[in-house]
Order: sequence, then structure tokens, then C-alpha cells
Amino acid sequence: MAAGKGTRLKSRLPKVLHEVGGKPLLAHVIAAATRVVPASDVFTIIGYEAERVRSALASTGVNFVLQSEQRGTGHALMVASKPLAAYDHVIVLSGDAPQITPQTIASLLNFHLDQHAAMTLLSADLDHPTGYGRVIRKNARSADVQAIAEEKSATPAQKKIGEINAGFYAFSVPQLFSQIEKLSTANPHAEYYLTDMAAVLRQARQPVVVWKTENAKEVLGANTRAELAVLDEQMRMAKCRHLMAEGVTIFYPATCVIDTDVEIASDTVIEPFVQILGRTRIGSSCRIRSYSVIRDSKIADSVLVRPGCILEEASIGPAAVIGPYSHLRPGSEIGEGAHVGNFVETKKIKLGKGSKANHLTYLGDAEIGAGVNIGAGTITCNYDGISKHTTVIEDGVFIGSDSTLVAPVRVGKGAYVAAASCITSDVPEDALAIARAQQIVKAGWPSKKRAARKATTTSLSS
Ligand code: UD1
Ligand code: MG
Repeated sequence: MAAGKGTRLKSRLPKVLHEVGGKPLLAHVIAAATRVVPASDVFTIIGYEAERVRSALASTGVNFVLQSEQRGTGHALMVASKPLAAYDHVIVLSGDAPQITPQTIASLLNFHLDQHAAMTLLSADLDHPTGYGRVIRKNARSADVQAIAEEKSATPAQKKIGEINAGFYAFSVPQLFSQIEKLSTANPHAEYYLTDMAAVLRQARQPVVVWKTENAKEVLGANTRAELAVLDEQMRMAKCRHLMAEGVTIFYPATCVIDTDVEIASDTVIEPFVQILGRTRIGSSCRIRSYSVIRDSKIADSVLVRPGCILEEASIGPAAVIGPYSHLRPGSEIGEGAHVGNFVETKKIKLGKGSKANHLTYLGDAEIGAGVNIGAGTITCNYDGISKHTTVIEDGVFIGSDSTLVAPVRVGKGAYVAAASCITSDVPEDALAIARAQQIVKAGWPSKKRAARKATTTSLSS
């Protein structure tokens, strides 16, 4: 269920697209669901900003069902009755509780099947249950459920119950849809509550049971921005703990932001205040020094990222050294053992094995071979105001400092470009190109100049 607006977030963005752990709430729930059943058996009920939700999650391969008017969680199931009729049982998940695990979903289903229940709900004991529906059991010892009491309608005695309805259920499909018409909107929100199915099925003498998870964190939903922040922190700490258990060193993990889908191999060290985002993959024995932000990038083994680097959709070969203060933009492919240094910006380039661009350089739309040295302040002039052009620098080239390479241009194998050159045509293999104004040296000129100035000032003052 993902059709709700999320009024309490005070946002134009639908609740289920708000992010925790670096991706939408709903993406976490779908990821858990698709580890229990194939994506083709998942039906996502969308409504508020439906197209936005659909396109954000389209790549997951799940189905979408439109609930154009959001008249409650019970109503959400009513609109999905047609596609669900093909199944014997349905697991219902709330799209706003992102820490649910595939194990818990599977346990809920197994318990439901074992009990031959019409409805099985997932519960948890919370110290602060306010806001959640409360589970009214038949008696303390049995799994049989009498009803679920929503916060707004609960009696003072019911509000004292710490066992909450997590918003995850398993239903027998025929029993659900033979009784769902009995739901009413006679409640404070004037909505069809799916939770009322407990009492409805009970009255129809159908078995309704509860399965309690010991891991209460798993079922926490997010209805407010403050709750989103709590979930985000919990998920990021859980991610750090998981990585540490897998052999990654993370100093001061509370300062690191590592997204859920990030992969890092063992013996890599993450220093404080680092962000590793999206689908980034980092190999083993790397060191990511402080204040770097790395998004959707691929980093091989033994790479050193010095402080203050920004990497976006970049790929870094083994034993390369990046930074400090390098900005690697999308399409930067840095070869094995290559160095990209201080204040260097790259975009859509290949930098070959062992090549170096260590200082104050812009390299865009360039193919650079192996063993190349790019001097300080080199600029590839890749844009003529209309289109982008490529610079090719072959193996073993030496580009002197402060050179500009006006693309399209090629510097052949082993060539030298003299410092401060403006290269506008190709440099052949094994050639030296000097493209700068020739230096003129005038011996004695400064002292003549000073003497002339002195003579004028003396004549003026006399
Ligand atoms: C619901 C439960 C409550 C439970 C809590 C757990 C009901 C009536 N109450 O309350 O017992 O403790 O979850 O988090 O179900 N949705 C739709 N269509 C709608 C309305 C909601 O798809 O018409 C979706 C929402 O997008 C959301 C989910 O259903 O993902 C739950 O709705 P929400 O409004 O968050 O219900 P809660 O008030 O949290
Ligand atoms: Mg909720």
C-alpha cells in the first residue's frame, strides 16, 4: 500500500518517496518483498502523485494498481481485488515502514499458513505505542485476535496496550474478499480501515491470529519528518555495523553517511565525515579519507582517495590515488595506478595506467593513454560554444604546465608539448610542439628605464 499522501509530512512529495538510507521508503519495502516473491507477483497500490511514484519505482519490475481516491487502507485492498483474485493468499505491506526484512515477511506468511488463518497480522511491543493501532488479543496466552483498535477510537484501557499493529498482514484471498464489503467508514477519519477486517472476520467466525516480531525496529513507520530522521539514522548505523562485521573499518561511524545499496570489500578504511552514496562499489584495502562525497562510482582495490574529493559516476582502477580536492564527474575512468591530484576536474575521460594529472587541471572529453604526464594548469578546451570535441593524448606524452589543448586535437605517442603552449593542431608522434609567443630578452633595459624615470622626477622637482 503506497497510495497515501502523508499529510503529516507537510510535503508535495508523496510520503513513500521520502528517502531514508539514501532511497525512497517504498523502494526498501519493495526490495524486501521481491526477496520473498518475484516482482511479477508484487502489486503496488498507488494514488497520490501516482505517476511520480510509478516512474520512481518502475525499474523494480513490480505491478501498479491505481487507487485514484484514497479512502483508507481497506479501500486500497478493495481496488486491488481483481488482480489479487488469481492468488490463494496475499501478504499486505505498508509502504512507509522501510526496515521490514524478507525473513519477517516469510515468517508472517509461514505462521499464517500453519494456522490456516483468514487473517494474520504482524505485531510488535513498543515502549511508546501512541499513534499505532493496538492489538486486542482474545487472551494473553493465545495468538487469537479479537480486534485492532486505532489510536483515535481506542478506549483509555486499550491505549495502555503496548502491542501494536505493524501494518503488515497475510490474508486468505477468498476470505478477505468475501467479507471486505462489510467494512464501514463509521470512524473518526471516515475511511475504510483494513484493520477493521480483524473484527469483521472474527464475527464471521474466521480465524484471525497475530505473529509478534521480537525486532520492533523493523516495523517502525514514518509519519512525520522527525520519524523519518530517526529511521534514517537507524538504517545508516545498521549499514555501518553490517559493513564493519564484513571487515570494513569505519572510524566514527556516526559521522559517515553510507547508503543502503553501497558495497564495500574488507580491509577498506573509511575515515570520519565521508558520504558514500547510491550504488557505489568499493574494493578491498582502499582508504577513503575525510570529507569525500562519492556517488554511484566504482572503485577497485587499494585505491587511496585523499581528503575532500567529489566522485560522481566515476570508475577508478586499482591502486590509483585521487585528491586531495579532486572533482571526478560522470564518465571519468581512471586507470590502474593513475594519479589525479589537487584541484583537478575531470569529465568523460579515460586516463591510462600510471598517468598523472596532479595539479589545477581540467580534463573533459579526453582519451589519455598510459604513462602520460599532464602538467599543472593544463586545460582541454572541449567546448566551442555549440558542441563538445575530443582530445586524444597517446601513451607516454608529456604535456608541459599551463598548456591549453583546443579540441578536436591529437597528441601522438611520446610527444612533448612545451609549457604554456596553446595547441590547436595535431602533434605527431615523438615530436616537440611549442606554441607560445617567443621570449625576447633585452639586456640592461630595466636600469635604463629606472635612470630615465629618475631624470624626469629630478627635473620636475628643481
Ligand atoms: C496504519 C494502521 C495502524 C498501524 C499503522 C502501522 C490502518 C487504518 N491503520 O496506520 O493500525 O498501527 O498503519 O504503521 O490501516 N494507504 C493507501 N491508501 C489509502 C490510505 C493509506 O495506499 O487510502 C497506504 C499509505 O500510503 C501507507 C499505508 O497505506 O503506506 C498505511 O497508511 P497510513 O496512513 O500511514 O496508516 P497509519 O495511520 O500509519
Ligand atoms: Mg503509517
